[in-house]
Amino acid sequence: MELTELLQKFLVVSFTIGFFWKLIRYMWSFVSMEKEPIRVLVTGAAGQIGYAIVPMIARGVMLGPDQPVILHMLDIEPAAEALNGVKMELIDAAFPLLKGVVATTDVVEACKEVNVAVMVGGFPRKEGMERKDVMTKNVSIYKKQASALEQHAAPDCKVLVVANPANTNALILKEFAPSIPEKNITCLTRLDHNRALGQISERLNVHVSDVKNVIIWGNHSSTQYPDVNHAKVTTSSGEKPVRELVADDQWLNTEFITTVQQRGAAIIKARKLSSALSAASSACDHIRNWVLGTPKGTWVSMGVYSDGSYGIERGLIYSFPVTCEKGEWSIVQGLKIDEFSRAKMDATAKELIEEKALAYSCLG
Ligand SMILES: NC(=O)c1ccc[n+]([C@@H]2O[C@H](COP(=O)([O-])OP(=O)(O)OC[C@H]3O[C@@H](n4cnc5c(N)ncnc54)[C@H](O)[C@@H]3O)[C@@H](O)[C@H]2O)c1
Repeated sequence: MELTELLQKFLVVSFTIGFFWKLIRYMWSFVSMEKEPIRVLVTGAAGQIGYAIVPMIARGVMLGPDQPVILHMLDIEPAAEALNGVKMELIDAAFPLLKGVVATTDVVEACKEVNVAVMVGGFPRKEGMERKDVMTKNVSIYKKQASALEQHAAPDCKVLVVANPANTNALILKEFAPSIPEKNITCLTRLDHNRALGQISERLNVHVSDVKNVIIWGNHSSTQYPDVNHAKVTTSSGEKPVRELVADDQWLNTEFITTVQQRGAAIIKARKLSSALSAASSACDHIRNWVLGTPKGTWVSMGVYSDGSYGIERGLIYSFPVTCEKGEWSIVQGLKIDEFSRAKMDATAKELIEEKALAYSCLG
C-alpha cells in the first residue's frame, strides 16, 4: 500500500471517529439539557445564608449537575437594593445551569410555580427582645408565606424551613397551607447532623464521608439530641460502631453532645456572624437527598411531621432519622432506644410542645 493511500485511510477513519464522537456528545447534551428547569425559591436571599446558597443552587449542588434551575429570590423592601446586587452577581457568574432569576419583594411573584422553597427569611432575635415578641414576628411572616405558597407554588412543591425557630416556623407554615401535603413541609436539622459527623471524624481522625448514621432528634435548638448509638464508621476491616471505635462513653454522652448543641454559638463567637456557608451547604444536602435519594444503608436527619414514631407527639415538626427514595422521606423504624436517649428525646419534644403553644398564643 502506498503512503498516500495509507494517509487517506487514516484521515477517513479519524474523521469518522471524530464525527461520531461529536454526534454522541451533541445528542447527550441535547438529551441532558432537555430537562425542564426546576424553580427554586430562596426567601431572605439578600442575607448571609442567601448569599452563600444561591451560587450553590446555580452550580447544581442542590439538584444535580445536569439539572437547570430558575432562581426565585425574595427579600423585604429595605433589602431590595442588596437583593438586586445578588441578582447582578448571579448574571455575572454566567452559570450554565441557571436559566433565569426572579428577584422580588413581592411574595406572590416569588412563589409562582416554584417546585422547591427554601425559607431562610425571618425575623432574628435582637438584644432585649422577649421570646414571645420574636415568635409573634415569625408567626406572622410564616402565616403570610404559607398562603402564598399554597396558592401559587407548584402543587408538589417541597418546602424546607431554615429560619429560626425552624421547627415551629415549619409547623406554622403547615397549619396555614393545609392543601400542601404535610410530607412536603420540613425543617433543617441537617446542619446539626453534619456537625455531629464532623465531630466524630475529627475525634477518630477518619474522613467525614466514612462516618454515617448519626441522628439528630428533636428541635434545631440547644435541646436537640445528637445520638451516635447506631452510627458506623467504614474501616479497612468493614463497618464498625462509632461507640466501639471512640471507646469513651463519657465523652460521647457529655462533651460530644454539648459541642454539637452549642456549635452555632461557637461559630458566632469566632466569626461574629452566625454560620452561613455550612447552613447553605447543609440545606443543599437536605434537598438533594430528599429529591435524589439517600445512599443505600445510610440515613440522614430531617425535621419532619411526626406520625407518632418513637412515641413523639403527632403533629410536631421533629427531627428524625430518615431515608429518602423517589422524592419521599420515611422515618427509619425499629431503632433501639435506651433510657438515656429516651430522656433526651422527650426533653426536646417537650420544648417543641411549649414552642407550639407559644406560637398559637401569638396567633391570638
Ligand atoms: N436551621 C438551621 O440549621 C440554621 C442555621 C443557621 C441559621 N439559621 C437561621 O436562618 C435564618 C437566616 O440566617 P442569616 O444568617 O441568613 O440571616 P440574615 O439576617 O443575614 O438574613 C435574613 C434575611 O431575611 C430577610 N427577611 C426578613 N424578613 C423577611 C420576610 N418576611 N420575607 C423575606 N425575607 C425576609 C432579611 O431582610 C435578610 O436579608 C435565621 O433565622 C437563622 O437563625 C438556621
